[in-house]
Amino acid sequence: MSQILRDARKYEEITEKEIADALRPDFHLSSRVGWMNDPNGFSYYRGMYHLFYQYHPYSSHWGPMHWGHAVSKDLLHWEYLPAALAPDTNYDKDGCFSGSALTLPDGQHLLMYTGISKERQPDGSDREVQTQCIAVGDGMDYEKCLENPVLDQKDLPEDGSRFDFRDPKVWREQDGAYRCVIGNCDAQKDGRVLLFSSPDAVHWKFEKILAANQGRFGRMWECPDFFGLDGKQVLLISPQDMMPHGFEYHNGNGTVCLIGAYDEKTCTFTEEKDQAVDYGIDFYASQTVLAPDGRRIMIGWMQNWDTCNLHSSEQPWFGQMSLPRELSIKNGRLIQKPVRELESLRGEELRYQDVAFSDTIRLDGVKGRKVDMELDIRPQDAGEMYRKFAVRFAQNDKYQTSISFRPGESVLKVDRKASGSRRAIIHQRRSLVNSEGGRIKLRVILDCFSVEVFVNDGEQVLSATFYTDLEADGISFFADGGVVMDVVKYALG
Ligand code: FRU
Repeated sequence: MSQILRDARKYEEITEKEIADALRPDFHLSSRVGWMNDPNGFSYYRGMYHLFYQYHPYSSHWGPMHWGHAVSKDLLHWEYLPAALAPDTNYDKDGCFSGSALTLPDGQHLLMYTGISKERQPDGSDREVQTQCIAVGDGMDYEKCLENPVLDQKDLPEDGSRFDFRDPKVWREQDGAYRCVIGNCDAQKDGRVLLFSSPDAVHWKFEKILAANQGRFGRMWECPDFFGLDGKQVLLISPQDMMPHGFEYHNGNGTVCLIGAYDEKTCTFTEEKDQAVDYGIDFYASQTVLAPDGRRIMIGWMQNWDTCNLHSSEQPWFGQMSLPRELSIKNGRLIQKPVRELESLRGEELRYQDVAFSDTIRLDGVKGRKVDMELDIRPQDAGEMYRKFAVRFAQNDKYQTSISFRPGESVLKVDRKASGSRRAIIHQRRSLVNSEGGRIKLRVILDCFSVEVFVNDGEQVLSATFYTDLEADGISFFADGGVVMDVVKYALG
């Protein structure tokens, strides 16, 4: 093991003790110490889920990337393991960027990641050359392979940029051969996903350009993932620098889901539909795992690149993951539900049926910052539509964050502008949702510093982080016009 990795392991072990558990999310994975971004190497290995992450242990801001590491049996209780990778060889001396994992036939765990190495350019500037590398280990310690890098410039199609060539997602086919998809830019700096194949996960061959942007979704496409789901094929990508289209793609850097058909013989992906994956503010760089029971489970980084440099360096950790979400496809759309394991965290249950109101109300016992709450909302009188419904949480006399719904426009909004932020950043996001006759179903999950709203049984999700004082634990409901509501609320954890 290199001294650089040994130092990182020692540092995180010591520094972790300075962070009180109470100041972290409970069942969302947050950085052990320092900075976290993308989920990496999400896999099921030797009876545990493994989740690695982009990690800079030494400060709560982005820096030379390591891979942090955590394991869990239920995707909710995470145990930190020592950092798995550090930037310690010539081909990754400036960072071990995002990648993925799988189990090899001999039982070892394979990590495939992007190595970053700065190269002096003729004009005197430094640019990051990106190559693909592998490391093999036992779920705790990993050794980088002598053959590294296993994919570099010579493997790219002619117009491929070696400066934008990253984030391999690797898997093994039924016949034992390996495939991976990797994000890349062409000579015009336009994003695309490349497909490679290999008999042994070491020797790789370029197969084809699986999908190309052609100016549609932002520029570089980061963190691709590619899998079959309910008879369709899904390509997840996280494009940089997107332009909003209507209510879609508002996050600058956001995650897009392309749904289509795949012909395995010719490796041809035919796109049929596209949609945003998350309609809130904080979600990026998702990755999926196929669970042993056949579920396709996705997790994302629950932050936004445009708002993640605003915290003080004194903050001991920054960055958290989304809830792991079970994926399916219905009517050509991606459906996301919190993993069913979350139900096992449910404690005290409160139920209120047919609560009729037309102003602000509170319900006995409905409060908290670790909450799973199902709301079924409809008008009191079908002939007289209410104008607005809102649920406010993380609330006291100073702060609140809210979700509101206007049936007239069928628009759902998350709003954290009064959450305690002192910055002039985006605090609201609106999403068009399905609602018939003013009815809408919301499942609201709070975990200390975040909200994830699952709309109409997972048709849409809105995620947002907020770093409000934990003392603000009130929840209230508001209606402008007559609303009737059922509430089922569980304390979590
Ligand atoms: C996405 C990303 C990846 C890269 C990593 C670097 O958020 O930019 O493309 O591998 O983060 O930390």
